[in-house]
Amino acid sequence: MRKKIAAANWKMNCTLQEGEKLIDEILKSGIVLQEHQCSIFAVPYPYLINVQHQLTGQKNYFVAAQNCHQQKSGAYTGEVSAAMLASMQIPYCIIGHSERRMYNNETNAILAEKINLCYDNNITPIFCCGESLETRESGSQNDFVAKQITASLFHLPVEKIKTIIIAYEPIWAIGTGKTASTEQAQEMHQYIRSVLSDKYGKAVADDIPILYGGSVKPDNANELFACADVDGGLVGGASLKANDFTAIIKALPG
Ligand code: 13P
Repeated sequence: MRKKIAAANWKMNCTLQEGEKLIDEILKSGIVLQEHQCSIFAVPYPYLINVQHQLTGQKNYFVAAQNCHQQKSGAYTGEVSAAMLASMQIPYCIIGHSERRMYNNETNAILAEKINLCYDNNITPIFCCGESLETRESGSQNDFVAKQITASLFHLPVEKIKTIIIAYEPIWAIGTGKTASTEQAQEMHQYIRSVLSDKYGKAVADDIPILYGGSVKPDNANELFACADVDGGLVGGASLKANDFTAIIKALPG
């Protein structure tokens, strides 16, 4: 069975103390994740070690970075490399979030370099894709998302891509309270899987988790996660409230 994943993206939120309390409260709810389920917390760099320690011994709970730099090392003040994350045993890293594409000018080509560095360092990328409202309204969302995927991922050999996690996050649904309908989400997820299948074969595509992101909340998580090709969520705002994120983890298909 394909992995089902509830991933939190804290973005630039929470003090250290607030973050510790949040994780504490989520863990106190005592959810026991099944073999095919996992929950991942993408937290700001300075908290990675703390959160990793908090999650030690918690089955199928993992920490993630929100980004890494596209160069191996060097004179890039304030940046963090994939090798640094690997040296801290960080297992996952978000790559290509739309906020980084927008505010940090991360192109598909730069993201391909980040993806390579993740794999070189045994870090599993959570690769984000998704179109703007303008692109959706013009009806070219499929071509747009296919291009993001082919340009940043299709140089990868099958042994690597088969471990990736993809997050489809339509920009118009991020932080807006406007969620994609289950039909829109399922349609795009199925399309992404078909793009992967055309290049790498059905068996590989069928095993890659594709998460939905964009205003996932406790009251829409169940119906979104019930879609055949939606394998969980990448959650911003609602991951900052213990009760909400706990409910979202519980919405993962059993
Ligand atoms: P929201 O859940 O706040 O819409 O954010 C989604 C997101 O960007 C997760 O990476």
